[in-house]
Amino acid sequence: MPAKNVNDIVALCKRRGFIFPGSEIYGGLAGLYDYGPYGVEMMRNIRESWWRAMVYERDDVEGLEAAQLSARLMWKYSGHEGSFSDPLVECKKCGLRMRQDKMKDQKKCDACGSADLTPPRDYTMMMGQSLGAVNAGEINAYLRPETATTTYVNFKNVLDSAPHKLPFGIVQIGKAFRNEISPRNFVFRMREFEQAELQYFVRPGTDMEQFAAWKKTRLNWWINQMGIPAEKLRFLPHEKLVFYAKAAEDIEYEFPGGFDEVEGIHNRQDYDLGSHTKSQSEFKIAAKVMENKDSTVKLSYSDPQTGENFLPYVIETAMGVNRAMFVAMLEHYYEEDLGDGKSRVVLKLPPRIAPVKAAVIPLARNVPELTERAEHILADLRKLGLGRVEMENSGNIGKNYRRHDEIGTPVCITVDHQTLEDGMVTLRMRDDMSQVRVPINDVAERVRGIIVG
Ligand code: GAP
Repeated sequence: MPAKNVNDIVALCKRRGFIFPGSEIYGGLAGLYDYGPYGVEMMRNIRESWWRAMVYERDDVEGLEAAQLSARLMWKYSGHEGSFSDPLVECKKCGLRMRQDKMKDQKKCDACGSADLTPPRDYTMMMGQSLGAVNAGEINAYLRPETATTTYVNFKNVLDSAPHKLPFGIVQIGKAFRNEISPRNFVFRMREFEQAELQYFVRPGTDMEQFAAWKKTRLNWWINQMGIPAEKLRFLPHEKLVFYAKAAEDIEYEFPGGFDEVEGIHNRQDYDLGSHTKSQSEFKIAAKVMENKDSTVKLSYSDPQTGENFLPYVIETAMGVNRAMFVAMLEHYYEEDLGDGKSRVVLKLPPRIAPVKAAVIPLARNVPELTERAEHILADLRKLGLGRVEMENSGNIGKNYRRHDEIGTPVCITVDHQTLEDGMVTLRMRDDMSQVRVPINDVAERVRGIIVG
């Protein structure tokens, strides 16, 4: 059975070096996490899978990596400075501060149960910064709360340097920062996290068709690349659309506590390019935007055939990378009873996102002939460039298999005394623990087949 309990994942993450609480030795700081040796590998693999699907396997999408800090004006005109907030309620008895819409019971304090609460007030999630030698407290920059806005303001830069006809997209993977009132559920809601977002620019009128197409594309990625069964995913249309959106749906995953959001697909019309463009009055902007007197660039598109100059609509797909990793760990975590009072924990991750692709294990560590063969196999596997491949030289095969089951290594290659006679090694498969003898010369191809199919 996949994990029923988030605590199983939290414990595994700490024990095996995936995720550690941030600032831990100083008592921790809520909503912040540090990624350890296997966590960074898994995050890299998820990013890589997403980037491959969104950029390398298409002709119409370019990449971008914008700064994480940006000018205050950018966030004024995006609307975040004025309205990116959550409703804060404070308990007058114990002082606990809570996000009203996430309280267990809106009339009682989550901690002490008191009904003596303040009325809700807007609490900004923006993290303001004083960059340079400015007066104390003067905010002239923000840590970005999403990658999207930093893509819109680069629309013209990308289009001028990598010309495309509509429709085309720009993607970013990068950090986002939100001063969440109540970070919760491990890495589900963090204060510093990573997003993988696509902004797809389309001709007005084709937007709903593109919205539908992207819903399908993104759902398939979750199923095919992350190995999530279709029945554990669903679309949830937003009940209340934000004022500029024409359509918005979340992809939800069935967490142990119920369905919750992992990605958003949005039809944002011309709100973003319309908000940030110079000369707004030259365009017929459908969305309601703030008057912009500060922008220095027209963020419009000229149709090469008709010469028509207009603001494209945006279809956005917005995924949290940390949340994707969390979902993969929950879904592929199994505790298996092996009989005779023995059991194992195993992460049956899709091989491409597994942190370690293969481990080579000499059966005894003090036999140089065995270690030598193992090192040759290791070198051959590393030449494949599939990702991390490890040597396990502790001499305790049982412990080695348990460790690699827990971190999700799809295959272990064991070199034993018989190898010295017949040139064969054992491939031990993670999922069913089956073992097969193969010639050393075939190992690299076999492993490649297991990892990339
Ligand atoms: N540009 C649109 C945007 O940022 P969002 O729904 O606020 O949309 C997109 O965020 C995704 O980012 C979410 O579906 C979620 O996976 C992830 N995300 C949002 N807030 C998060 C947080 N505090 N911690 C971890 N992931 C978060």
